[in-house]
Amino acid sequence: MSVLPHGGALVNRLAVGETREQLLMLANSLPKIKVDAWTISDIHLIGVGAYSPLTGFLNESDYVTVMNDMRLADGVVWSIPVTLPVNESDAGSLTVGRQAALVGDDDGIIYAIIDIECIYKADPRKEAQQVYKTTDMNHPGVRKLFQRPSTYIGGPVQVVNRAMDKRFAQYYLDPKETRDLFEEKGWRSVCAFQTRNPIHRAHEYIQKCALEIVDALLLHPLVGETKSDDIPAEVRMASYSAILDHYYPKDRVLLAVFPAAMRYAGPREAIFHAIVRKNYGCTHFIVGRDHAGVGNYYGTYESQHIFSQFSYEEIGITTLFFEHAFYCKKCGNMASRKTCPHDISDHLHLSGTKVRQLLKEGKSPPPEFTRPEVAKILIDGVKKYG
Ligand code: ADX
Repeated sequence: MSVLPHGGALVNRLAVGETREQLLMLANSLPKIKVDAWTISDIHLIGVGAYSPLTGFLNESDYVTVMNDMRLADGVVWSIPVTLPVNESDAGSLTVGRQAALVGDDDGIIYAIIDIECIYKADPRKEAQQVYKTTDMNHPGVRKLFQRPSTYIGGPVQVVNRAMDKRFAQYYLDPKETRDLFEEKGWRSVCAFQTRNPIHRAHEYIQKCALEIVDALLLHPLVGETKSDDIPAEVRMASYSAILDHYYPKDRVLLAVFPAAMRYAGPREAIFHAIVRKNYGCTHFIVGRDHAGVGNYYGTYESQHIFSQFSYEEIGITTLFFEHAFYCKKCGNMASRKTCPHDISDHLHLSGTKVRQLLKEGKSPPPEFTRPEVAKILIDGVKKYG
């Protein structure tokens, strides 16, 4: 039996065929709301049901309860506000009870039609504190939040166009498609892996530990907006393609993209990442060290501890928690503090700065840290993107 989507049913807000044509016609006469890349990715994910049970952007009562209690107003767990900010000039033309067209800021494409349920003033400082646990503008999620307008529109959407990054076209699988595929392959348990980084040996280790106990692995790199110093999605996807060919069992691993924007909200985003992967049909979800964290805003295992605030039934996906993994020279393999008795000096630790420096010099990090096939791609990536 397949996994129940969050809230009970898989949402589908994609308008197709004649309905879509009619909505596109209608859009011409509707007021327009300009939307950025972040919102465009949210529209896509609402449309395909990845954000089930959301059928649109949060209305005010849901916004308040999500912010304060990590729940929608009806009590269903939801940890990240999925909101639609509008600038002052667009807001003036909108009326509650009417519709508006959501139009790409850069490309003029009509992505969706929203039924405007409410227009409300957000509280960005409170939202930052509650969701990101800081109001520091150096936090990339907080900065983004403060840069966006603070008037929000809530209501269900019908998606008429969805953004897809053509470079990864073959890796776009909607929740309905991954669910069907898992069923077809007879995979009864599938563990999802969220990542925004190129794959390294610690990732491989925890993925394979999971693969020892489940039927299959869904490698689900996030390819939406990330902060500017994160490795570009193109390079990360190339690193995955390379490693899968060489080190993973072909019939038990699926690589697909997760086209969301990265919030860097640490613990709250871990809950969000887990629930969304349940919607893709996964039974298990990996949460390692500092999941979705950035800088020193969150404790190393805070993204694991937050799950204890909810019952298993409320989240509905089994979390697999991993301690910080490393290569131990004495053990001669990957390990963590849970499995390795040796001193820290026997462990291979490379800082991000050190790795970047090596790559810039065209040198591979040691194979105990990065597979040579991946190192080559990263060196080429650094040459191309700096
Ligand atoms: S994240 O922002 O998407 O969480 P990243 O791609 O670095 O960042 O991590 C993907 C997953 O691997 C997360 O669950 C993270 O906690 C886990 N992880 C990353 N590095 C390690 C490590 N050395 N040991 C254990 N878990 C790790």
